[in-house]
Amino acid sequence: MLGYFQRLLGERGLAPHGFCLLWDPALIWTHVVSDALIGVAYYSIPVAIAYFLTRRRDVAFGWVVWMFAAFIMACGTTHFLSIWTLWHPDYGIEGLVKAATAAVSVATAAALWPLLPRAIALPSPAQLQRVNDDLSLRIAERDAALAALRRETAERERAEDLLRQSQKMEAVGQLTGGIAHDFNNLLTIVMANLDRVQRLTEGDARLARPLASAATGVERAAALTGQLLAFARRQPLETAEHDLNRLARNVERLAAPALPAGVRLTLDLAAAPLPVRVDANQTENALLNLIVNARDAMPGGGTIAVRTAASDQGAVLEVADTGAGMDEATRARAFEPFFTTKEVGQGTGLGLSQVYGFVRQSGGTVAIDSAPGQGTTIRIVLPQAAPLL
Ligand SMILES: Nc1ncnc2c1ncn2[C@@H]1O[C@H](COP(=O)(O)OP(=O)(O)O)[C@@H](O)[C@H]1O
Ligand SMILES: [Mg+2]
Repeated sequence: MLGYFQRLLGERGLAPHGFCLLWDPALIWTHVVSDALIGVAYYSIPVAIAYFLTRRRDVAFGWVVWMFAAFIMACGTTHFLSIWTLWHPDYGIEGLVKAATAAVSVATAAALWPLLPRAIALPSPAQLQRVNDDLSLRIAERDAALAALRRETAERERAEDLLRQSQKMEAVGQLTGGIAHDFNNLLTIVMANLDRVQRLTEGDARLARPLASAATGVERAAALTGQLLAFARRQPLETAEHDLNRLARNVERLAAPALPAGVRLTLDLAAAPLPVRVDANQTENALLNLIVNARDAMPGGGTIAVRTAASDQGAVLEVADTGAGMDEATRARAFEPFFTTKEVGQGTGLGLSQVYGFVRQSGGTVAIDSAPGQGTTIRIVLPQAAPLL
């Protein structure tokens, strides 16, 4: 082996390659310029490749590209040596460089072929773009589905809330109605016996006052059970056909003088009479309750607007105020009997429950539109009777 390298690199009096070309300047310089240009180009290409690879570390099969760089560089070196051997007969060194180039070339070629199927299988930028577009589309679809789901969930929660609320009102109504009904029967017994005692002890001054107080108490209790029966939709109604406008005017005449100075009551009535089948007393009572509530909500004064109108759903009776309004928690419970936000002695919590029970018993609906600081509008819709002739 050593002998082989000594022979290869030893001084052997060989002629430089220019000699073969008879030192013809045309031949010599054509070779020199061409080899020099090829050499420079072959040296610059690996530099570009190396720069690219250091910048793009994600390139697939980077190692084989590094092999390309090495192989091109080796080729460049052989071209520079071709220039050198024109004048210097160092064919041994040239041979060794060629051998190294051969080794790198063969290794690169051998590595390249098995890679081909895998390289072909790599997704092209166009394919990647398509996959990306597809993915974006699916994300958009999923986002839309999620939004729809969220909307539906909110919708369902609202419906469940409404259902729970109405079930609660139903349950409270049954309990209240049951108690009020039996309690009323007991009150009738108490009242009848008080009457009898009163008759039997007529003339006894000591018993007159306590008996009168007891009778007043019983009457108050009877009024209270009446309100509870109203909420429970179990009060006896004296239903007849009335003009809603006329009932509203009656209440206005009654209520307007009793309102404090800063509170204005306005009437905005439907042009034609609004026939409804209701209990007149209960209707007026309900409207009065709403006006009293509106007054209570406006300690600093304001306007109470009573409106009537005909609509597709029926005859509308609306009371709107410019008062404090209700927050969500109050609004949700306002119709419950005994629910009040007023101080002890100020409110019984039975006003809106009377309105609710009476309207429902009459086959109508009632809704609250209110927000803190925005005032309150209570809207009652009653089934409209045949038009008055
Ligand atoms: N017009 C209104 N503006 C603001 N809050 C109201 C109005 N009407 C009713 N409310 C609220 O609903 C609650 C229940 O009303 P109601 O049943 O009439 O009982 P009360 O008036 O005795 O408190 C009130 O305590 C109040 O918080
Ligand atoms: Mg009230």
